[in-house]
Order: sequence, then C-alpha cells, then structure tokens
Amino acid sequence: MVTDIFKRPLQALRISVIDACNFRCNYCMPENEYPRNYKFLKKKERLGFPEILRLTRLFVELGVDKVRLTGGEPLLCRDLPELVKELAQIPQIMDLSLTTNGWFLAEQAKALKEAGLNRLTISLDSLNPELFRKISGGKGTLEKILKGLQVAREMGFTPLKINVVVQRGINDSELLHLVEYFRRPEYIVRFIEYMDVGTLNGWRLDQVVPSQEIITQIEKKHPLEPIGGNYGEVAKRYRYLDGQGEVGFISSVSQPFCGSCNRARLSAEGKFYTCLFASQGLDLQKLLREGASDAEILQSIRKCWQSREDRYSEERTDQSSDQSSDQVKPKVEMYHIGG
Ligand code: GTP
Ligand code: 5AD
Ligand code: SF4
Ligand code: SF4
Repeated sequence: MVTDIFKRPLQALRISVIDACNFRCNYCMPENEYPRNYKFLKKKERLGFPEILRLTRLFVELGVDKVRLTGGEPLLCRDLPELVKELAQIPQIMDLSLTTNGWFLAEQAKALKEAGLNRLTISLDSLNPELFRKISGGKGTLEKILKGLQVAREMGFTPLKINVVVQRGINDSELLHLVEYFRRPEYIVRFIEYMDVGTLNGWRLDQVVPSQEIITQIEKKHPLEPIGGNYGEVAKRYRYLDGQGEVGFISSVSQPFCGSCNRARLSAEGKFYTCLFASQGLDLQKLLREGASDAEILQSIRKCWQSREDRYSEERTDQSSDQSSDQVKPKVEMYHIGG
C-alpha cells in the first residue's frame, strides 16, 4: 500500500481507454472547440490493451482494488470486452465498472456482461429529446440511449447508475422529470454539480446548482433519508422513504471530498494523473516503451503518489476556476482523463 502527503491511499484507478467521443457535450467537448477534423490520439499513440493490463497489475500491487474504464467514449473501442475479460481475471480487483454515454450499449452490453464487467454507469442529462440532442452537441438521440439502458438492465446490470450533469439554465428545470422516470429500484440517478474541469467549457460558478437545492426540490414530493456511502464512492446517497430506490449527489463544488480522495487516473496516452484537475501527468507510456522494468515503473508511480498533495476542489477559488485567465495553471481536459 502507498499513501500520499495527506495519508490518502491509492485504491481506485480510472482508466481512459480512448480520448475520442462521438458526442460533443457542451460541458466537456464543446462543438466549436472540437470541429470535425480535430485530431484525437492515433491508435499507436494510445496505450494498447497489453500495456494497460501490465500497468493495472502494477497498480494493483500498490493497493488498487477498484477499476473504472472511461474515455472519451470507451465503447468506441469495439474490442473493449477483450480488455474487460483480462481485467476481470485479476483477483484483487473487487469492482470493475465502466462509464459510457450509452450510444453503443444496446450492441455491446451482452459482451461486456459476459466478459465480467460488474457495473455500468450511463450519462444522461435530459429526458427531453430536443434538449438531449442539444446537450450532446447535436450527436445523440434519447431514444437510442433509452434502448441501451433497457438492454443493459436485461443483461443484469442493475442497479444501473445514471449520471446527470446539472447546468443552471440548461437542464435544471428537468430534474424532477428525471427523478420520476428513474425512481425505481433498478436505477440510481446521481445529480452531479457542473465542474470547472479542463479549460474550454466556459464554466462559471453561477451555472452550478448546489446539490442542496435539488434535494430540497425533490423532498417536497418524495421524502428522502441519507444512507451511508459505499466504499470509495464520491456520491452522497439518499433513499426514498417509500422504498422506491435511491438517488445520489456528487457535490464537488459545494461540498468537496478531496479529504478522502483515493483516485488515480490513467489517460489514453498513458499519463498518470493524481487529480482530475491536474496540469501534468507522469508519462508511463514513455517508461513502458523505453523498456523499463516492473520495479522501475512501480517505483515511479510510488514516488509520484507519495508526493501527492492535490486537493483542487477544496482549494478552488474564483481565480483557479477562471478559464479565460492566462495566469491560471492549465488543466487536463475531461475527455483525456475520463472524469
Ligand atoms: P462509483 O461511485 O464507483 O459508482 O463511480 P463514480 O461516481 O466515481 O464514477 P463516475 O464516472 O460515474 O463519475 C461521476 C462523477 O463524479 C463525474 O462527474 C466525475 O468526474 C466525478 N468524480 C469522480 N471522481 C472524482 C474526484 O476524485 N474528484 C472530483 N472532483 N470529481 C470526481
Ligand atoms: N462537470 C461534471 N461532470 C462532468 N462530466 C463530464 N464533464 C463534466 C463536468 N464539467 C461527467 C460526464 C460523465 C462523467 C464521467 O463525468 O457526464 O458522466
Ligand atoms: Fe463524450 Fe462523455 Fe465528454 Fe459527453 S461528457 S463529450 S459523452 S466524453
Ligand atoms: Fe481528488 Fe482532485 Fe477530485 Fe479533490 S479535486 S477529490 S484531489 S481528484
């Protein structure tokens, strides 16, 4: 086990398998910033599955027991079930999950289940077809995502988590609709405060809806009670008193949770980041491709984590979140690091 400056262990690894995405969500890859000819990483610039597996096994030696696959959109890797199958065989990994926009789910849920994926989370910000399309940058259709959800449930991915990024003035008037639709034991909706990740989404504090505001709104119709968090979970969980399942809130802006942050991130090009808001990552691809031994790679990761002092969300200020200022430290983009 390895711990950082604040005694936080390294326990969860989020692996971005690809930076590209078929959507252009306004809060992540706004269409005007990522035109059609935008150059995503070429295949050989990304880590290959054997490289991801080798690194994951090393992370496991350092204490990782929870792995989440992310992107961009991870299901753009058509052979992803092959990676899942290998990861699922690492005995120390207690929880293997995937975050997806759901577009390819209807075709892929079965293979993912058979490969041994434990849990699935789908991003879905609105149940209004036009607004859904707009938020996805004109790329997605709600109908296809709902079909994906249905197939995922049929394959046994329940409860299925639904991530809703809440943006004031965009989808905040729709939240009760989402609550009513997904208020069933098969689903867990999580409302996520819009975060100042990256440098290109034009984030402003007044676009954030604090979770407490949403809780108050829901409680007027459906009384809630807090329940304890699952191991390593960033969401605060609540259950509906009438037994219709649960709902979660991820409040990185209004109630930061850096104190217990045990998450590391591996980008598609093999950089190791110790925070979602980091400027730089440790280049593990370089080490791998220059022929470093396992012991050397382990030592680099260990050193990097031991000197970690990230607590961006707890230190967030007007200045650190001002994306238009050139005084501000650069931040890695969301689609590189997978959230
Ligand atoms: P489980 O709780 O294991 O189901 O997964 P998760 O909620 O950590 O993963 P998911 O990919 O669904 O992420 C949900 C939201 O939480 C996304 O908006 C992430 O960017 C955000 N998030 C996850 N980890 C962190 C973190 O360490 N810091 C911050 N600020 N946000 C995080
Ligand atoms: N703020 C909050 N959540 C975000 N996500 C992407 N960009 C942001 C942002 N700026 C969410 C996605 C996905 C998860 C990995 O992160 O919707 O569900
Ligand atoms: Fe793609 Fe997810 Fe980013 Fe939307 S939030 S553009 S689906 S990577
Ligand atoms: Fe962890 Fe950084 Fe998120 Fe804080 S802001 S919880 S340190 S990833």
